[in-house]
Amino acid sequence: MPPIGLAVIGAGYWGPNLVRAARVTPAFRLQWLCDRDLGRAQAALDAYTPIQATASYEQVLADPEVGAVAIATPAATHFDLVRAALEAGKHVLVEKPLTATVDEGAKLADLARRTGLVLMCDHTYCYTPVVRRIRELIASGEIGDVQFVDSVRVNLGLIQPDVDVLWDLAPHDLSILDFVLPEGVVPVAVAAHTADPVGTGKACLAYLSLWLSNGVLAHVNVNWLSPMKIRTTVIGGTRRTIVWDDMNPPARLMIHDRGVDRLPADTVGPDERRQTLISYRTGDISVPALPEKEALLSVMAEFGSAISEGRAPLTDGYSGLRVLAVLEAASRSAESGGARVDVAMPAALEGSR
Ligand SMILES: NC(=O)c1ccc[n+]([C@@H]2O[C@H](COP(=O)([O-])OP(=O)(O)OC[C@H]3O[C@@H](n4cnc5c(N)ncnc54)[C@H](O)[C@@H]3O)[C@@H](O)[C@H]2O)c1
Repeated sequence: MPPIGLAVIGAGYWGPNLVRAARVTPAFRLQWLCDRDLGRAQAALDAYTPIQATASYEQVLADPEVGAVAIATPAATHFDLVRAALEAGKHVLVEKPLTATVDEGAKLADLARRTGLVLMCDHTYCYTPVVRRIRELIASGEIGDVQFVDSVRVNLGLIQPDVDVLWDLAPHDLSILDFVLPEGVVPVAVAAHTADPVGTGKACLAYLSLWLSNGVLAHVNVNWLSPMKIRTTVIGGTRRTIVWDDMNPPARLMIHDRGVDRLPADTVGPDERRQTLISYRTGDISVPALPEKEALLSVMAEFGSAISEGRAPLTDGYSGLRVLAVLEAASRSAESGGARVDVAMPAALEGSR
């Protein structure tokens, strides 16, 4: 199959990464880089490149050579840009979050389904070797039943003009959970506590509790104000505990045979029960070897394969929509002072996972 003509939309912070990944992906021939600030698009390209810079999205969509677009513009613009691309018959890769509301996301997922075009959400972390391995570890039963999830994603972050820290950073954690949790396990309720200690006008740090459909409690902490970058996720299981420290490449993933077990009640008498029902496992820690492969290259490869094979990508519009459903419930919770709010999965999601 000849390479698919591609346009990248948005040449700000993230767009140039999509450009770089697209240029080395055989499935695509990058034709356009579009930014409404033409100078920014031009600056992101080298002088002798055949890739054309433009400020006109209409020009890109009118080009019959363009079969697909990859959109890296602010979240508030995603709905209009993705809809226009799908209506023009182009396959779409769009940055997280899919859209600014569940309603918009559901419309796009439905439009992609009706047109038969690929709608892929760039949930980048799902394409990292470490997250793929975590998914396998959970699916194979190696860690047993998941008992808790604790995820921390804090650093000195760019305060975004259009979204708060929940909508900027938590899509990473929520998309990872969506990807690694066992089939059918989804968040059913959330409580979010947020703060804006600097007075930026939007939440800069957030604590998000998630109740999952299997009764497990998960927690996500995101923060733009931390001078130290911490990227740690702990997933406790009945057999093993996964510790993923993304800032520690030599031991990014550790599997601990350490944890707390509960002995069957009939093994001890009633008087000693309180002390002896609990036993501590202090076994080995193993560190699996993981390939070092840049996630964005896998994102692009998956986008190309989904188009050529006429199938849904690993992170399709519905996975973007599931993340939005949690984000929207989290925002409602934060607005009401952190109350527990049910996650309403939109009707469009029925049977999507
Ligand atoms: N996957 C990841 O790990 C990751 C990392 C960073 C950002 N992102 C996502 O990428 C998207 C962009 O973020 P960013 O930090 O690059 O933003 P940015 O503000 O740095 O860049 C956005 C660019 O889009 C351009 N733009 C806006 N509206 C446009 C339009 N209608 N047509 C053409 N160009 C338009 C702006 O001029 C700007 O150059 C966001 O959705 C963000 O969440 C993803």
